[in-house]
Amino acid sequence: AATLREAAAAQGRFVGTAIADGKLSNTTYTNIARTEFDSVTAENVMKWDTLEPSRNSFNYAPGDRLVNFAQANDQQIYGHTLVWHSQLPSWVTNGGFNATELNSVMTNHITNVVTHYRDSIEYWDVVNEVFNEDGTLRGSVFQNTIGQGYIANAFRAARAADPDAKLCINDYNVEGTNAKSNGLYNLVSSLLNQGVPIDCVGLQSHFILDQIPSTLQANMQRFANLGLEVNITELDIRMTLPADSAKLSRQATQYASVVGTCLAVANCGGITVWGFGDVDSWIPGVFDGQGAACLYDNNYAPKPAYNAMLTAFGGE
Ligand code: G3I
Repeated sequence: AATLREAAAAQGRFVGTAIADGKLSNTTYTNIARTEFDSVTAENVMKWDTLEPSRNSFNYAPGDRLVNFAQANDQQIYGHTLVWHSQLPSWVTNGGFNATELNSVMTNHITNVVTHYRDSIEYWDVVNEVFNEDGTLRGSVFQNTIGQGYIANAFRAARAADPDAKLCINDYNVEGTNAKSNGLYNLVSSLLNQGVPIDCVGLQSHFILDQIPSTLQANMQRFANLGLEVNITELDIRMTLPADSAKLSRQATQYASVVGTCLAVANCGGITVWGFGDVDSWIPGVFDGQGAACLYDNNYAPKPAYNAMLTAFGGE
C-alpha cells in the first residue's frame, strides 16, 4: 500500500483528518486529503455556532460542502460535535434558560443536526470535553443548568434521530490512565449500566513531543473491554519551534507508536489527525512557540512522521 488510507484499510482501520472548510478550494490540500485519508472530520463547521447560530435557524451549507467532498472521495464522515461548551453561540450560553428549556434547546439541536446528516455520518461526537482535569464534570452551561443527566439525554436524542450512527464521547488529556480518564471510565461504565446508547470513546491525543503517555494502550484496552470502540480522534504531536531533524525523527517514531498502539487494540477503529499540514494547524495560535505538529510541513511536503505512519500501518 502506497497511501495511508490503503495501508490502514488493509489493517481494518480508518485513517482520517480534520478538514478546514477554507482549504477546500486549495487543490494541493484537497489532493492530499482525498488520496491519503478515508475519513474526514469537520475542523469547525459542524459545531453549534456554525450549525445553529440563532435559535432554530440552521446553517448547513458549510457542513454539506464537506459531506459532498467526502462522498465524492469515498470517505466516511466523523461528526464533530453536537454538545460542547466551546464554539457555543451566546444565545445558548447567555440565554437564561431554565433546565427544561435548555434541555429542549439541546435536544432540538441534536435532533435537527443528526436528522439532517442521517444518511451521511458514520460517527458523532455527541458530547465533547465534559470533564475537568480532576475527573469531575466540567461546569458548562449544560451541566450547571440541567445537571449531569444532560449527557444521557444527549445520547438518547442522537440515537432517536439516527439509529445507525456510532455515538461517541470525546475528550483530551484522557489518553493515559489518570484522574480525568478514570472519570471518563466511570461515566461511560455508568451510562452503559443505565442502557444509554453509547458506542465509542474518542481520545483526542493532542500530544507533546516525548510525552506520549506510556499507559495509552492499557487505557484504550480498558475502554475496549467495556465493549466500546475507542478511536484516536485529533492526533498531533507538537514540539518547541524551530523544528530540527532530531525532533522530527523522534516525532516520526512517536506517530508510529500511536499507530502501533491502535493496531494492538482490537476495538481501535482508527486514527484521525487534527489537520495534516503544519501550515493549517491550530497549535501555533494557541501555544506560543510550539508547532510543527503534523504529518506534512508548511508547504505540504511529507515529513518523516508521514513515512513513519505509513510504515506503521504496514504500507511502504
Ligand atoms: O469563523 C471566524 C472568522 O469569521 C473570523 O474571521 C476568524 C478570526 O479569528 O475567526 C474564525 O473563527 C475561528 C474558528 O476556529 C474558525 O477558523 C476561531 O477564532 C478559532 O478560535 C477557531 O479555532 C478552532 C478551535 O477548535 C475552537 O475551539 C480551531 O480551528 C480548531 O482546530 C479547534 O479544534 C478543537 C476541537 O474542536 C476539540 N478539541 C480541541 C481542538 C483544538 O482546540
